[in-house]
Amino acid sequence: MQQLANLSVHSSLPTRAIEVSQLSHVYNGIHGEVLALEDISLQVESGKFTVIVGPSGCGKTSLLMMMAGLRSQTSGELLCHGAPIPQPDPNRVGVVFQEASLFPWLTAAQNVEFPLSLRADPKVARRQRALQMLSLVGLDGFADRFPHELSGGMKQRVSIARGLVQDPPVLLMDEPFAALDEQTRMTMGHELLRIWATTSKTVVFVTHSLTEAVYLADEVLVMSARPGRIIDRIAIDLPRPRTYEMMASDKFGGLRERIWQQIRSQH
Ligand SMILES: Nc1ncnc2c1ncn2[C@@H]1O[C@H](COP(=O)(O)OP(=O)(O)OP(=O)(O)O)[C@@H](O)[C@H]1O
Ligand SMILES: [Mg+2]
Repeated sequence: MQQLANLSVHSSLPTRAIEVSQLSHVYNGIHGEVLALEDISLQVESGKFTVIVGPSGCGKTSLLMMMAGLRSQTSGELLCHGAPIPQPDPNRVGVVFQEASLFPWLTAAQNVEFPLSLRADPKVARRQRALQMLSLVGLDGFADRFPHELSGGMKQRVSIARGLVQDPPVLLMDEPFAALDEQTRMTMGHELLRIWATTSKTVVFVTHSLTEAVYLADEVLVMSARPGRIIDRIAIDLPRPRTYEMMASDKFGGLRERIWQQIRSQH
């Protein structure tokens, strides 16, 4: 844990990490206009783990891209720690996508270092920081492996390390474990909670797995079918640290069921 000493806690930031007010988005595609998101309002407090679930095509990825500054909404406001995010800024918001989009010609450490090279940080400091992040995600000893030498779960760990390397206070994750087998996925979820608890990040996490949602979240936001709206927000008041045994509890089952009923009503 010593290597985590210089992970800042961002204690000077406002307590509201993300604030979305009356956000709507219309895509102008080749088939005409698509109302993707409609009147979304939500708040994520600093340090909380929020999970978004909803039917395919309801706008989850679109919303995350807006939170990451990768796309701008048609109307409404989106603030990250009190300020708009007009373009990607990995110092403020880190992003991890479904596919571990690593550069195949770079080693694990070089992939993690990559965002720092864009800032022209000193080479030795970059390397050291990358090794710290690889250690944090449980990849000690794999720094010099290339992506094709790593398993799917390991690649996704490298992606998480890369998302954390600039120590952003907010980490957005869009179905990061969807391509993994169930066992690896459970392990990765557990690991992510450990990293989250260690680094005090605000996490917004999209998944289709309701078990994963309940296991990870402080709060689950349920979206309607397109146009996406927030139709329910469910506080997950299970104790932390979460354990696999909790999944068998009535309380866990009840929370999962409530989310499922909301999603089912959309079909
Ligand atoms: N660039 C685009 N141009 C036009 N329409 C788009 C574009 N990107 C997304 N859409 C449409 O917006 C809607 C929301 O898409 P989005 O990818 O955000 O959904 P999602 O909830 O992430 O879905 P999934 O669960 O399948 O990943 C969909 O109807 C999609 O077809
Ligand atoms: Mg998506």
